[in-house]
Amino acid sequence: MIRILFLGDIVGEPGRKAVIARLPELKEEEDLDFIVVNGENAAGGRGITSKIAIDLLRAGVAVITTGDHVWDQREVMDYFPTEPRLLRPINFPEGAPGSGSVVLETGKGKVGVINAQGRVFMNPPLESPLAAVEAEVEAMRTAGVRVILLDFHAEATSEKIAMGRALDGRVSLVVGTHTHVQTADEQVFPGGTAFLTDAGMCGPAESVLGREISSVVWRFRTGLPTRFPVAKGPVRLCGVIVGVDEGSGQAVEVRRVDELFATPEEASGRGELRAESEGGSREGAKNPSGEGPEV
Ligand SMILES: [Fe+2]
Ligand SMILES: [Fe+2]
Repeated sequence: MIRILFLGDIVGEPGRKAVIARLPELKEEEDLDFIVVNGENAAGGRGITSKIAIDLLRAGVAVITTGDHVWDQREVMDYFPTEPRLLRPINFPEGAPGSGSVVLETGKGKVGVINAQGRVFMNPPLESPLAAVEAEVEAMRTAGVRVILLDFHAEATSEKIAMGRALDGRVSLVVGTHTHVQTADEQVFPGGTAFLTDAGMCGPAESVLGREISSVVWRFRTGLPTRFPVAKGPVRLCGVIVGVDEGSGQAVEVRRVDELFATPEEASGRGELRAESEGGSREGAKNPSGEGPEV
């Protein structure tokens, strides 16, 4: 059996630090063979940089997936073609930098990872994720790859569940990302595909989707544009662990991961548990960028 950990959207420095600090222990405790993380919010909540991708890969991550915020840090566009383990959604139009899938050799055989983005309530509007994913799954299976994982970055639960059901029996895991809130519907479908509608995030627990509470509340209260700093304090590490029979590619077990990670300072009560006061949000009102809440 090959044991795989998938962690949801890493939010900012707190999320990165928690993931990098916790991964070696988790790998040991859970006897993990393969680790995938979604890094679309790893750089201050917006996108990912080449340096952050390198840090995560060095920490033991095998593949980094992304989503609608993939290009927020422009410099990463040049990095994508150089790093096949960093994925962007496969259903971007022809010509987008990088790739939406990768197959890696492991001690337990080949593992294929695919990243796709949904179309319901999502921007930018992309090609059909189902068509793109099904074509890639068939190409992988024809090449003899049986352990196949899909990060489906999407808002609507219906779109995510439909994707999982459509692929049942052909892939090992379909896990959703993007909402930053973990769902409790983990299961193995009849055909042997493990499924979870959303993995949740790896970001500050006392927050709104990883962002400072006061800023987001202020935005909803006033309707005015503001910034959303990444919140502080202990991090909620969310994801899923799946055990897969490497011969058939069928999932044998699936379990959610949802734990609180505190730095030694936070654990001893010296860290700040909550984000700063509302001052930051008012200051942010001067910024006309109109940045929306990250998801
Ligand atoms: Fe997203
Ligand atoms: Fe996200």
